[in-house]
Amino acid sequence: MHLFFSLTLILITLIIGCRNNDELTLEKSIYSDPNIEIEARVDDLLSKMTLEEKIGQMVQAERNGIEEGDIKKYKLGSLLSGGGSVPKGNTPKAWVDMYNKFQAEALSTRLTIPLVYGVDAVHGHNNVKGATIFPHNIGLGATFDADLVERVAQITAKEVAATGLDWDFAPCVAVSRDERWGRAYESFGESPELQELLAGAYIRGLQGPNAEMGGKYVIATAKHFIGDGGTDWGTGDAGYIIDRGDLTIDEKSLRAIHLPGYIKAIEENVGTIMASFSSYQGKKMHAHKYLLTDLLKGELGFEGYIISDWEAMNEIAAPTYYDKIVKSVNAGVDMFMEPYRWKELIDVMKKAVDNGDVSIARVDDAVRRILRIKFKAGLFENPLADSEVLNEGSFGSKEHREIAREAVRKSLVLLKNKGNILPLTKDYKVYVSGSNADDIGNQSGGLTIEWQGRSGNITSGTTILDGIKEAIKGHGEVVDDISKADVAIAVIGERPYAEGKGDDGELSLGYQDLLTLQEIKESGKPVVVIMVSGRPLIISDYIDDWDAFVVAWLPGSEGQGVADLIFGDYNFTGKLPVSWPRSIDQLPININDKDYNPLFEYGYGLEMDLED
Ligand code: GLC
Repeated sequence: MHLFFSLTLILITLIIGCRNNDELTLEKSIYSDPNIEIEARVDDLLSKMTLEEKIGQMVQAERNGIEEGDIKKYKLGSLLSGGGSVPKGNTPKAWVDMYNKFQAEALSTRLTIPLVYGVDAVHGHNNVKGATIFPHNIGLGATFDADLVERVAQITAKEVAATGLDWDFAPCVAVSRDERWGRAYESFGESPELQELLAGAYIRGLQGPNAEMGGKYVIATAKHFIGDGGTDWGTGDAGYIIDRGDLTIDEKSLRAIHLPGYIKAIEENVGTIMASFSSYQGKKMHAHKYLLTDLLKGELGFEGYIISDWEAMNEIAAPTYYDKIVKSVNAGVDMFMEPYRWKELIDVMKKAVDNGDVSIARVDDAVRRILRIKFKAGLFENPLADSEVLNEGSFGSKEHREIAREAVRKSLVLLKNKGNILPLTKDYKVYVSGSNADDIGNQSGGLTIEWQGRSGNITSGTTILDGIKEAIKGHGEVVDDISKADVAIAVIGERPYAEGKGDDGELSLGYQDLLTLQEIKESGKPVVVIMVSGRPLIISDYIDDWDAFVVAWLPGSEGQGVADLIFGDYNFTGKLPVSWPRSIDQLPININDKDYNPLFEYGYGLEMDLED
């Protein structure tokens, strides 16, 4: 008899076991079926998730902030590489291997929800050695060319996808209203006209014409919502002077100046929007329910998800971390970029739901948005790196660099050309000097290989001097003795910086550059000055000594594009995306200001007289 009961028990267990598996298998087949409409897949998956699994989807940790097994144990939904956070070797293959290892762990969880991995590829895949580095956004703004910007973003997406990653924290659609801001170069320019013209193009380039967001495309991020570029000098946070500061204009002006880029981004079905560190009228954006939820998600109908900025919740005015997180979730942030403190975040989120301080409806809304984008990006069907994209061999290729070179050419702005000294003849003996003549790190600027960027030979490409030598090879020559030169070229400007570390209340020329200019002035030679900087510098006391003045912004890895114009192979087409101030006390100065009287106006730019 005993045996009979034992066998019956075993049989019942087996039947239940199979049923559960069948149920899970059956259940899994609903949300994992690509033929089913995305919203139904989201509903199905959401209905199966525990609170712990839901909260895990709302957490983004830094790749170097986790240990093996954490993704599975805590059901983490996202990882990021912050500036300079790269796998050993920093080759595309090293990135692919790293990504696949993390993703495999995510796929081993109960519901096999794939990770989404984000990175700042803001002017090419700028963390990775050998990537094509494009002009920073201020230079793209000077092109006023949406088609070019879309092609630049397409190549950026392809090089990001080649390394396995899914998500680019770009484009920055800040409207930079005060060039003393260390992030001015991340903006297309001071007028919403440029964000309206270029933000959508950039997002289309990154995500694909139909917002595919997968394969050779990636998920884009319009950032930083809203008004990061309009804060008042002296209101900065986290020890900065203007970065992360307070925007105080009225709502009508906020909507007119800082919203158009986001409206375009939403029209392009941008997958994510990043909240800004800054404040609006004294309230941190990460706790601003009216702007994040009522305006962005309600009035504008944004259906993707809002990602926080790096540890940004910690800057919210509230007594405890618990209060900061509750404020931020309830304001409308959906995913939290909490690189290292993410275990505490998970605990706090669970407590907040248990206490009723965060509703399960808010959690479900956040997770729904995140899952929707993961489904749209095809991550459930193709979670691992698409080796075809890397094997195609276009990463950092000559073809990609030629597009970057075209972007450099179209970004340059000619502000002075006395006696039509430009274009220079290629037969000239040319004396080239200045801090930025032969430095690929300086010409690339911040957010290149390292968070702050770095001077020196930090990645592959051509410096401006390389380009000049190549352009006149076989005809003229670069001479070391200025007395033997027909013309002098001074390449001056800024050293790399990023974010608030670049906040600068003087915008003056550096000592080394002043010495360079003085030496050339004393030589009596005609001089062409090329400015490599992330923004206008104050030059009113010096420009009268210059025969020609060219603004190159931060051109990136293809410095040879500068010589293409200097020696007349191409003409200038670039126009100023920002007003050029006469003096520092004019700042902030923007087009349409009352008594507007800059040294050079927004939209100004000369062409050369090129013989046909
Ligand atoms: C930074 C920046 C943001 C970037 C993020 C991740 O602090 O504000 O633009 O995407 O952190 O690196």
